[in-house]
Amino acid sequence: MPAGTLGKLQTPLADGETRGASLSGFDRDFVVALSGTPRSISPKYFYDAQGSILFDRICELPEYYPTRVELALLATHAREMARHMGPGAEIVEFGAGSLRKVRLLLGAMERPARYLPIDISGEHLGAAARALRRDYPSLHVQPLVADYTRHLLLPAPRDGAGQRIGFFPGSTIGNFTPAEALHFLQMAAQVLRGGALLLGADLVKDPDVLHAAYNDAQGVTAAFNLNLLARANRELEGNFDLTQFAHSAFYNAPLQRIEMHLVSRRRQRVRVCGQEFEFAEGETLHTENSCKFTIESLQTLARQAGFAIGPVWTDPQKYFSLHWLSAPT
Ligand code: AVJ
Repeated sequence: MPAGTLGKLQTPLADGETRGASLSGFDRDFVVALSGTPRSISPKYFYDAQGSILFDRICELPEYYPTRVELALLATHAREMARHMGPGAEIVEFGAGSLRKVRLLLGAMERPARYLPIDISGEHLGAAARALRRDYPSLHVQPLVADYTRHLLLPAPRDGAGQRIGFFPGSTIGNFTPAEALHFLQMAAQVLRGGALLLGADLVKDPDVLHAAYNDAQGVTAAFNLNLLARANRELEGNFDLTQFAHSAFYNAPLQRIEMHLVSRRRQRVRVCGQEFEFAEGETLHTENSCKFTIESLQTLARQAGFAIGPVWTDPQKYFSLHWLSAPT
């Protein structure tokens, strides 16, 4: 693929957005993924416009407990969390989703000063920012289009600002390898100096509950997984036949993670990015790891990154956890 093509994959900026330094290329990473053995790609590429819609539908599924439980934890404990933040705090959200979660925090906070959502997808961000500005006219909403898995450059704190609070809900931290998670937390500890991180982490639990959450009866998670190939067809001139790949998601108990793969149903040849790739029958493209934590394993990781452990909120079934982690000064 000619080098100039990369430009068209970038989304135009919405009002008030700043483009981060490095947006990685789906085209390059997809070719690298198909050239490797075993084949694997970062789950961040799930979230084009279509993938973001499918993910929002996953969050509504009866089997997918994390969103429901985390929202309930936020609704129940937002006042206590807001007390830890203090007045005039700003929130930096890593990956801006539907905004439902941060609204629960903003609603409980005393004079929230600024909201900085960081997301790889500009489309999603722009609409979300406009909606929030409407509802919180005095809140400074400053979206940042960036890949926070790479590195972070945040605007300087504003004069007289309160604490800077990082918000990383949903257990997206589970998408990282343990080494990447440590690196991300170290980076977060730096940019949040003097403030804190409010971190959502899905917990190790009954494998049947985990399995069902990634193998829903309506097939929404399967469609979400397969959308990666549909996206390659749309953006990278791919010719994947989506009926010839199967969704596979299972709990890898020793590694305490859900793995998602796309399995080739037969031997087949595919063209994408102007190159040909062969799949053997049963060969897989590994599309996601979703690591599960214990409260202790999460706290150990946070401590290694330099955070001091604060309160942890969890539901009676211990399905999901929210951690208050104080950044170094
Ligand atoms: C957004 C990464 C937290 O791992 O549960 C949902 C993504 N993948 N169903 C998760 C996802 C399949 C989700 N995270």
